[in-house]
Amino acid sequence: MKKNILVTGGAGYIGTHTLIELISAGHSPVVVDNLSNSSEEAIRRVEKIVGAEIPFHKVTVQDIPAMRAIFEQYSFNAIIHFAGLKAVGESVAKPLEYYKNNLDSTLVLLDLAKEFGVKKLIFSSSATVYGTPEELPLKETSRVGVGITNPYGRTKYMLEEVLKDVAVSDPSFEITLLRYFNPVGAHESGTIGEDPSDIPNNLLPYVAQVAVGKLNHVNVFGNDYETIDGTGVRDYIHVVDLARGHVAALNYSTPGVHTYNLATGNGTSVLQLIAAFSKASGREIPYQIAERRPGDIAACYASAAQAEHEIGWKAELSIENACADAWKWQSLNPDGYAGPINA
Ligand code: NAD
Ligand code: UFG
Repeated sequence: MKKNILVTGGAGYIGTHTLIELISAGHSPVVVDNLSNSSEEAIRRVEKIVGAEIPFHKVTVQDIPAMRAIFEQYSFNAIIHFAGLKAVGESVAKPLEYYKNNLDSTLVLLDLAKEFGVKKLIFSSSATVYGTPEELPLKETSRVGVGITNPYGRTKYMLEEVLKDVAVSDPSFEITLLRYFNPVGAHESGTIGEDPSDIPNNLLPYVAQVAVGKLNHVNVFGNDYETIDGTGVRDYIHVVDLARGHVAALNYSTPGVHTYNLATGNGTSVLQLIAAFSKASGREIPYQIAERRPGDIAACYASAAQAEHEIGWKAELSIENACADAWKWQSLNPDGYAGPINA
């Protein structure tokens, strides 16, 4: 059934890719984004890909009057809440900004959802809620909340708890907590992708900028972990697979809170990822071994069997696909959305 969907943070990296999947599944998304970490150009490019206009409101979610007007204008069937600040290091430096933005935006949305009777909500959670993993691969039932090293991660953990409390208080809510592992890659068109405003914090965009010649070399943060080659291991998931996970979650309708890992089940080390990107780009990627990054864990990957079993979703794209697509985006758009469209 076609749904009117409020997509907060829809101009961002995961949001833009999800808009495409929502529209191809026949849904009607409406975007609210304050463009604090994105640009309207991203929405324009999604519109080109899908060949349709997407209603866009440049609004901060905490702006209650503006948000109420949007809820009045559209009759939403569901909310996908991507909006949030996400830089781990910045959250240590500016904890109040992170707590205010991430917590307040979600509380405002929940109030409005109650007021307007929108009972289906999908929340962007993160592997970070598992803190120090007690077991690998992680399962949805694995321990959460122990060893989270930064305010960003704590906002995700706290919000999961808030959402569970809300669902208990009002059993007609259908809340899905999607715990993303490491999103990478880009749409196959090469016209949208991750566009960090500064030097990237995350590995894959950093590697991509080395490959394109914007940065000199990759710093590999530690090669003395207990992993296959001593470097950190993560579960990298193609952003298009991740986007499709939201469509699957929308289609599944049962009251209460449902939690899913959106992951591939495979761990890839830093050196393996550099090698895969080098192959996809045909470029040499110089790297240097550096100190461990404070707060990092050795390995993090997850089983997504629950998502497959309950919502019929599983990751289909490989790390090779992700590297090829990220390279297409990076090489065609070395200046991200600030440059011309090249595709
Ligand atoms: P992103 O920064 O590209 O997108 C987030 C968007 O939200 C941005 O466009 C930003 O302008 C907007 N925004 C932020 N605060 C807002 C507010 N108060 N009101 C309106 N708009 C606001 O990030 P992303 O990678 O697309 O991540 C989307 C969500 O997924 C975030 O909640 C993030 O924490 C979560 N997540 C991301 C990752 C990752 O590695 N990318 C991993 C796990 C979870
Ligand atoms: N790494 C490097 N060099 C870099 C960047 C990263 O060696 O320049 C290594 C890290 O040490 C780690 C791996 O590459 O072993 C992945 O690092 P990322 O920063 O790309 O990703 P993280 O797993 O550290 O962090 C991600 C999200 C966070 C989220 C966290 C836990 O970016 O938002 O997963 O879910 F909190």
